[in-house]
Amino acid sequence: MRILLTGAAGFIGGRIAGLLGEAGHDVVGLDVMLDKAHLPGATLPAGVRRADVRDPAALDPLLAGVDAVCHQAAMVGNGVDAQDLAGYAAHNDLGTAVLLAAMARAGVGRLVLASSMVVYGEGRYVCREHGEVPPLTRRAADLDAGVFDPRCPHCEALLSWALVDETAPIRPRSSYAVSKVAQEQYAAAWATLEAGRCVALRYHNVYGPDMPADTPYSGVAAVFRSALERGAAPQVFEDGGQMRDFVHVDDVARANVVALERVGEHDVGVAAYNVCSGQPRSIAQMAGALADAFGGEQPILTGRHRAADVRHVVASPAAAVDGLGFTAAVPPEQGLRTFAHAPLRPTR
Ligand code: UD1
Repeated sequence: MRILLTGAAGFIGGRIAGLLGEAGHDVVGLDVMLDKAHLPGATLPAGVRRADVRDPAALDPLLAGVDAVCHQAAMVGNGVDAQDLAGYAAHNDLGTAVLLAAMARAGVGRLVLASSMVVYGEGRYVCREHGEVPPLTRRAADLDAGVFDPRCPHCEALLSWALVDETAPIRPRSSYAVSKVAQEQYAAAWATLEAGRCVALRYHNVYGPDMPADTPYSGVAAVFRSALERGAAPQVFEDGGQMRDFVHVDDVARANVVALERVGEHDVGVAAYNVCSGQPRSIAQMAGALADAFGGEQPILTGRHRAADVRHVVASPAAAVDGLGFTAAVPPEQGLRTFAHAPLRPTR
């Protein structure tokens, strides 16, 4: 297949480009080289053109003869600064809308979209008495007292986490999350108009070689890895019991290749899948495994907390197995062992 890959110079896009090439696909790569992800003057990888997905004139010739689009280009991070609101809307919302319009002009009807577990907001929770419930927003008094799990809206009992599947309510909590929901919804509107087929891959916590080093936009694995490299101890927030699913970038890249190969078998519309290892770990476990593998300072449980953080997001991998035949191959401990010594992407 001939595939237009946006964000082809990025941490995940670069890995997808390599794997698509190995699988015998023809890749047309583009990247705008955002300064939050790339150092000024960074060179484009071979075969990748500098282009902005918001530029229809750049897209039209690149889409000629393309069978499917793999849309990874996005401003990432968790939307911690209100000054970034317009950037998320411009790069992610508008960029996707312009790309979809160009796909319609070119008659390209297959899309694989990089989505995120952030569309769910908080994960899924169960009350012993009331069953599955939407959790109450965590109270400052609880957090200050070291009570980190959210409470039941009916009886205020502390809740237990459950697996999040793709039918979980969409409850974005940050500007980045809002833009990821918007991307899925623009894709749905495009699919209705154009009889298009889209697979939206909801990535959980991606890590691996070439991950951007510690910036306000980096996920926790890069933050801990950068601390270890500085000779510092990873600072674990809350009590370290927050659960996540750490999925290796090689698995994420493979999920994209499989999705591109199988998106045409899907019904018209958007099919969303969690992309995860299926082996949840707590933040303290992840920090410990990384510190051991690095041979560095042991993590410190700080008890500190960040207002915007969600407590647990634990993915169900079942739908991706059924719908794509995708199962992650890299268990967290194995992936973290190699990540401990892998190069990070320099950032400013
Ligand atoms: C992260 C990404 C989000 C992405 C999602 C899925 C960021 C900032 N967040 O969300 O954009 O879509 O994964 O791939 O890029 N923590 C510490 N110490 C630290 C930093 C964080 O203990 O120094 C803890 C946090 O309190 C949190 C957990 O680690 O409980 C995960 O943090 P983080 O990776 O920043 O955010 P996610 O919500 O998992």
